Amino acid sequence: MNEQFLYIMNLLESYHFSSKDVNNFFDIIRPIFYHEEFLKRMNFEEFPHHNKTSLGEHIIKNSVLTYVICEKYKKLGANVKTDLAVKISMMHDLYEISYKNHKRKKLISNMHGFVHPIEAVINSSLWFPFLFDSKDSYKLVDGIIHHMWPFPVRKVYKFNTTEINNYVKTGLISEEIRDMIVLSTSRSSFGNISFGNSNTIEGKIVSFCDKVVSFKELISKK
Ligand SMILES: [Fe+2]
Ligand SMILES: [Fe+2]
Repeated sequence: MNEQFLYIMNLLESYHFSSKDVNNFFDIIRPIFYHEEFLKRMNFEEFPHHNKTSLGEHIIKNSVLTYVICEKYKKLGANVKTDLAVKISMMHDLYEISYKNHKRKKLISNMHGFVHPIEAVINSSLWFPFLFDSKDSYKLVDGIIHHMWPFPVRKVYKFNTTEINNYVKTGLISEEIRDMIVLSTSRSSFGNISFGNSNTIEGKIVSFCDKVVSFKELISKK
């Protein structure tokens, strides 16, 4: 845990975070970061992501860049909610299982790239229910669902047709969250996939940062 905390501190230092920003950043991520499921994803052996980066490290890098960009936008006078964007980022890839354990899917549109944002919403709403109990709930769901934009996401008609790896949990999520997933994945859809971009500036920032961070990870030798 200490090692993981230091990982974040080093990253914040590389972006020259002030102590006020360090505190603000930790205030936002704390309830998510210290959850056992998140900490599990910091372990590369259990959850490898891009190249030598663990899934948790990828999410943290994305969240730090998201914070930096939101604060820059705010200084320019834009109406951006940093905490909303960082929360979307912290949950965007909380999918169920590692790449190592992926099974073949019957439909191409049910493969990892298309369905992992749905798994992330289901997991996040169960692990952090207190975050989905506000007027921003749909913004969180929609931001997570469409973070892969311009890559599309699977449209959900019925959960049992999506071959998601956390299907057993769909019986545990609230009707409200189910409806939000169906509504969000129905936007700008064609056939069984949705081409929609996130409908908030915060979601769009996360999606942009995801491309930048992923690209850097993929070309990195470390
Ligand atoms: Fe993703
Ligand atoms: Fe990502």
